[in-house]
Amino acid sequence: MYSAIRLTSFRTIVLLSLLCMSVSKLWAADPPPAYEGRRLYVSYCQLCHGTDGKGGGPLAVAMDISPADLTTTVRSRSDTILTKIITGRGRQTITGRDRHNLLSDAMPEWKNIFNKSQIKSLIAYLRFMSTAKFKLQGDPQIGMKLYQQYCYVCHGTEGDGDGIMIDLIGIAPMDHTNPNETNALSNDDIVKSILDGKGRFMPAWRGILSQSDAEALVSYIRLLAH
Ligand code: HEC
Ligand code: HEC
Repeated sequence: MYSAIRLTSFRTIVLLSLLCMSVSKLWAADPPPAYEGRRLYVSYCQLCHGTDGKGGGPLAVAMDISPADLTTTVRSRSDTILTKIITGRGRQTITGRDRHNLLSDAMPEWKNIFNKSQIKSLIAYLRFMSTAKFKLQGDPQIGMKLYQQYCYVCHGTEGDGDGIMIDLIGIAPMDHTNPNETNALSNDDIVKSILDGKGRFMPAWRGILSQSDAEALVSYIRLLAH
């Protein structure tokens, strides 16, 4: 039955669907945790821990105790421990740190500044940083807007590849929430697939989207990982 849909008519269907859908009404999902976590990280943590999480933020030079390299330390820490480290509540019970056994005051106690879901998001981003293979080149905020406009009908609101048009196509796209799948592709690979298309049903967006739009989308796609 699917093969009966010819490519040209398929393109028309895609365009019509994109035109007819009121994106704002259908878009109900919250931003992905790592995306939200990055936003918080940039505002609250980057100053000390640095853009890449390795501890070289602009404030680090002035500090006696250097901010931790989060890309290595976070890996061995459970969510519970990370929550204690961030809020400061119960920090003194943490053992097994390789540097100063107790966490120094140089790492602020954030107490109630973040709610539960924000802490979850922060941890998601710390985990993202410690497993990411590629830099976030483009601006994920721009990427999210474009994704909501052009991509979710097939790739799904959460990026797992179960968009509302997928039944019609009969081919499931890759799961963008699985870092093993997205980490297998370089930023340039993904930019190319976006601009030039892929297979029969992934449209080529060149002409609609620019190189920097595509880079923004790549950053957003990487942050869908969980
Ligand atoms: C004022 C500078 C500063 C800011 C801002 C800051 N940190 Fe830290 N952070 C530190 C320092 C310094 C350490 C290392 C403390 C030590 O080794 O005793 C640290 C340690 C940590 C650790 C422990 C790593 C480990 O497992 O050993 C985590 C996790 C962490 N910070 C997360 C965050 C998060 C998340 C934020 C933002 C909400 C943040 N930090 C903001 C300075 C900062
Ligand atoms: C009409 C449905 C549809 C739309 C709309 C769509 N895609 Fe896809 N996309 C697919 C399908 C199907 C595949 C799997 C293609 C294959 O591997 O044959 C895919 C694959 C991909 C891949 C994997 C490429 C690779 O190298 O394996 C990426 C990345 C991607 N799409 C990003 C996007 C982005 C970003 C947008 C929005 C600008 C978008 N897609 C819009 C259907 C779509």
